[in-house]
Amino acid sequence: MSPETAPHKPYVAFRYANPLTEEMYNKLFEDGFGQGRGGRAVAFTQYPQYSCSTTGSSLNELWKWRQRLEGKSSGGSDIAGGGNDGSIHWSVIDRWPAHPGLVDAIALNIEEQLASYPKEKQKNVVLLFSAHSLPMSVVNRGDPYPAEVAATVYAVMQRMKFSNPYRLVWQSQVGPSPWLGAQTSDTVSSYIKEGQTDLILVPVAFTSDHIETLYELDEEVIGESGHKDTIKRSESLNDSPVFIQALADIAKAHMESGETCSKQMGLRCPGCTSERCAESKKFFAGPGETFATS
Ligand code: FES
Repeated sequence: MSPETAPHKPYVAFRYANPLTEEMYNKLFEDGFGQGRGGRAVAFTQYPQYSCSTTGSSLNELWKWRQRLEGKSSGGSDIAGGGNDGSIHWSVIDRWPAHPGLVDAIALNIEEQLASYPKEKQKNVVLLFSAHSLPMSVVNRGDPYPAEVAATVYAVMQRMKFSNPYRLVWQSQVGPSPWLGAQTSDTVSSYIKEGQTDLILVPVAFTSDHIETLYELDEEVIGESGHKDTIKRSESLNDSPVFIQALADIAKAHMESGETCSKQMGLRCPGCTSERCAESKKFFAGPGETFATS
């Protein structure tokens, strides 16, 4: 779909599982990129909504390995953060919380689940959009994630013409410190108590199944609710063709735009004190495009 920028080759890098960023970087070298040979790479986050604890952390890690393996060039606003020293030129797709393809793919999965309820009940099923929570210390630092997750939820509801009542709730809190709520499991219990037992849980920040959908939502929240027949979960996006098309559209639009990253990338959280954030943002957004870097 983009012969002008072809050939393309996908690589995968995880933050905490194999293949890690270092391994991916070495694979790029093996395949003839960088080390004096230049080449262009796009870091495409698979988190639709940006958090400094997810995408930010992954990009900081990528920046770290770029510095270690390709020298200290501080980057620039030219495409794509690389120098003229034959290092890899990076650009970043750093967030896509309200992309129409993402929104449509989530809405289609909800509609499919809604159709499994008797017709007369469908309009009153409560939709509980559930996303991984954050410690309040991160939220209060000014992390963009809660607002971006809310943007996805609102866009999905707009696409569905606000057909059902809905709430955004947060899951997977750990430890004793305060986390962003309301918690998904508490919300389900509380609605059950009020007699609202027609609920659809919607994974809105995870694009594929994993322990938080298959175990936490399916086994714990739904499995232990006592209402397995009426409390359901919409499918994760996984290999939804609409979702996959959205990813391809996002990548194509990014390459056509000539942009290094979104305008948001250069702006640090108001409460950020991390040197690594400052340096990594300067690298990806370009020195002239960073703000609040004190
Ligand atoms: Fe958000 Fe550093 S923690 S920019």
